[in-house]
This record gives sequence, structure tokens and C-alpha cells, in this order.
Amino acid sequence: MRKRVLSGMRPSGKLHLGHFLGVLMNWKKLQEEHDCFFFVADWHALTTEYDRTSIIRESIDDMVIDWMASGIDPAKATLFTQSHVPAHAELHLLLSMITPLSWLERNPTYKEQLREQTTRDLQTYGFLGYPVLQAADILMYDASLVPVGIDQVPHLELTREIARRFNFLYKGILTIPEAYLTDTPKLMGTDNRKMSKSYGNAILLSDTEEEVWAKVKPMVTDPARQRRTDCGNPEICNVFSYHKIFSDEETVRKVDVGCRTAGIGCIECKKWMFEGMEKVLKPIRERRVRIVGSTVSVRDILEEGTRKARETASAKMKEVREAVRI
Ligand code: TRP
Ligand code: SF4
Repeated sequence: MRKRVLSGMRPSGKLHLGHFLGVLMNWKKLQEEHDCFFFVADWHALTTEYDRTSIIRESIDDMVIDWMASGIDPAKATLFTQSHVPAHAELHLLLSMITPLSWLERNPTYKEQLREQTTRDLQTYGFLGYPVLQAADILMYDASLVPVGIDQVPHLELTREIARRFNFLYKGILTIPEAYLTDTPKLMGTDNRKMSKSYGNAILLSDTEEEVWAKVKPMVTDPARQRRTDCGNPEICNVFSYHKIFSDEETVRKVDVGCRTAGIGCIECKKWMFEGMEKVLKPIRERRVRIVGSTVSVRDILEEGTRKARETASAKMKEVREAVRI
């Protein structure tokens, strides 16, 4: 059965391999069988970038080109811009009336961001309401599947709670969504911290082959392997966790044994891993060339998709207003 799928991403610049493995691969798979809406969450970006909004605008093209290079096809999925469908703001407002403050204040993502983002003032009404806006995005389209990264699970749980409360207070018209996660293990950055562009440890989908190798080559390995003849322990090496994602079983086995017995060197090991990684990145690069060379602009694609999103949203808002009797 065809299901409704919805997901969004904040425009914050170029995407990396973590985005591809964690989310975009699932978007690509789901677009083949289901009715998919994927959107640019520019209002969500505004919750943190409200004092330098130009970044948001400048990031949209890069992000959507990365989506399409990853295989997201505007002929199969509806791509749109959140802020161009103002109904999201109306539903956000209605949902904000029934969302208890305590649900938002205990949200782990919120608490973590307040702690980490010390250079920005996030003590705002909008930032606290971030998950309410996300709930509006999802519930507007009766999405039953929401392909996101594992870090978004608390937000999905909140969406479900808000929907249940709405259905209980008014009328059972909101679909309870489910998160759709990948089973690929989370990809760490090349320095084994969280992969993030701001740490400079990310392999970008737009990196050239040379740029990727320049990031892979200096990756820290098992410190016990000072010399080529020292045996290592692959389980504590970040390169090995990459192998488990990008290499075939035989290579993983060969690396496992070769590392423990000093049968292989780290550079050789990284070369093999790099080859597997390139099998993922090459098709993305090739699609990018075609997309950038085509005459259809990101703006036109989003505009077209936005028209369709607006129609769906406007039908749902009619139902919602009737349920609330306002
Ligand atoms: N919060 C999501 C993120 O940071 C982005 C997002 C906004 C989203 N609205 C959404 C994702 C609705 C899924 C569904 O990745
Ligand atoms: Fe890591 Fe490979 Fe070197 Fe072992 S051989 S320490 S797995 S890079």
C-alpha cells in the first residue's frame, strides 16, 4: 500500500556522508514506493539563525542539489519550501495551544542545544517551540512514515503525543506518525567525534575524489601501531568502523586479520576503505554534474512542489479548523 511519507532538513549548507547514510538513502528508497514530501525547513533554521538569515537563503540551493545528487528525484517526490506554505504556521499556532510547556522543557534535544550553543541566545519562545513546528509539518500531511536520523526520535515522540492530545480533545483526524530509521551504524567524523561540517571532520557529498583521500589519509588509527610491524586492534580504530560500512565482508575480514597480525599497513588499509567509500560517492558526483548542467533551477523545482504541498495543506487545514470549531 502506498503510504504518505514526509521529512525535512534545515538548510545549513553542504551535506555530508552522514546525511546520506542516515537519511537520504531512506528518502531515495521510499520515493520509489510511496507518496513522498521532502521539504526545506527554513523556519526551523530561523530558530537558531535568526540574526544571520542570509545563511539560510544561501544554503538552500546547495542542500537541494545535494538531495538530487543523492538520487532524490523531483519527478517522484514532492520537494518544497516550508515558509512558502504558511499553513504550517497556522497549524503550529493551534498545536501550541494544547502542548504542555513541560513536554517542551524536558525535550532532550532542547536541553542539549541550550548547553552546547553558547555563542547564541536560544532563550526564545520560537526555539522552545521547535518541536511543535515540526509536529505541524508532519501532521499537516497525514504522514505515517517520517525518515529521519536517530537524533530526531524524541521529536517524533513529541509529535505523536501532540497528535494524540489533539485527537482526544477535538476529533480523531490526525494520523499518528512513525519514525523510519536506517540500520547503517552511525558514521563518526574522520576524527571520531560527531560528524559535523563545523568540526572540519566531515566527508562532504560535494568533495572531489582528491579531497576525500586528503581527509581519509591522515585519519588517526590504533596508536599501538607506531611501526608497520606493530600489531593493532581494529575494534578501537575509526578506519575499521568505516570499513564495516563501506567495504564488503571479505575485505572486512582481511583487514581484521591483517591488522591484528601486522600483515597490512594502515595506509593500505585506508586505501581499501577509500575504494568502498568511493563506490558510494562516485554516482553522487556523476549525478551532480548532470544536475548542475541542466537548465532546470532549484527554485523552479521547489516552486512546483510548493504548489502541490499548498493544496494538500489547505485541505487538511479545513479539516483541522472544523475539528477545533474555529
Ligand atoms: N528537525 C529536523 C532536523 O533537524 C528537521 C525537520 C523539521 C523535520 N521538520 C521536520 C524532519 C519534519 C522530519 C519531519 O533534522
Ligand atoms: Fe586501523 Fe586498518 Fe591501521 Fe588496523 S590496519 S589500525 S584497522 S587503519
